Amino acid sequence: PTAKPSPPPAPAAANGLVTQEELKRVAAHRAVEMVEPGMTLGLGTGSTAAHALDRLGDLLRSGELAAVAGVPTSLKTEAHAARVGIPMLPLGEAGGIDLSIDGADEVDPELNLVKGRGGSLLREKMIEGSGGRFVVIVDESKLVPRLGCTGAVPVEVVPFGCDHTLGLVRKVFDGLPGFSARLRTVASKDGEGKEEMFVTDNGNYIVEMFFEDGIRGDLNEISDRLLRITGVVEHGMFLGMATSVVVAKKDGTVALLH
Ligand code: 5RP
Repeated sequence: PTAKPSPPPAPAAANGLVTQEELKRVAAHRAVEMVEPGMTLGLGTGSTAAHALDRLGDLLRSGELAAVAGVPTSLKTEAHAARVGIPMLPLGEAGGIDLSIDGADEVDPELNLVKGRGGSLLREKMIEGSGGRFVVIVDESKLVPRLGCTGAVPVEVVPFGCDHTLGLVRKVFDGLPGFSARLRTVASKDGEGKEEMFVTDNGNYIVEMFFEDGIRGDLNEISDRLLRITGVVEHGMFLGMATSVVVAKKDGTVALLH
């Protein structure tokens, strides 16, 4: 197969400051340094994880790394990994994951995460939570004081009865000021300005939960309440799962949080 070399690094911004894209690349490359020959890797999804895929492809092509296999967390990642020449295995045949590398939408001070704004939370949680190390790669804009501070917390739900399930999700946060929830839609491909349901790789829908100032309260209890709703498949709070977080900062330093 003809694997494509990774694109050149993003240029520095015109004002000389490092771009967010460059920070994502720096964090991804730092995590890829933890990969050892023979490892089975969880391959994350998103713009930060994409830099890790490119780097892995480059190292495999140059012969600096050998004998790794990846388990992709989305169809998009599967296509990207195939393009750059990373050998892949289905989760059931991998015999365990040694190391997963993925981005996140938010990281709190306890290294709890919000993931899945790209819609891949279920496969990400199955693979990244299946054992082995889980290294999260972010630029510093993803660090938050509380989960839910900067945008939606996604919940994957089955399409059947999705409005009913949406109502049950809303009930978990009954009376919480500033809370809202809705089903995620995307612009329809017909180009007529219509909206249609966002559909995950698993054929499910996504409920987006919004909090005025982040989620206050016991995250594990909230997680349990959401997962007890029949119709909810999984949510995007990744609690106690990250083993370390690589944070690329604007001042040029890289922090490794444990
Ligand atoms: C996809 C994810 C991503 O890791 C998360 O959305 C971060 O993406 P990006 O690196 O593009 O900011 O969870 O489901």
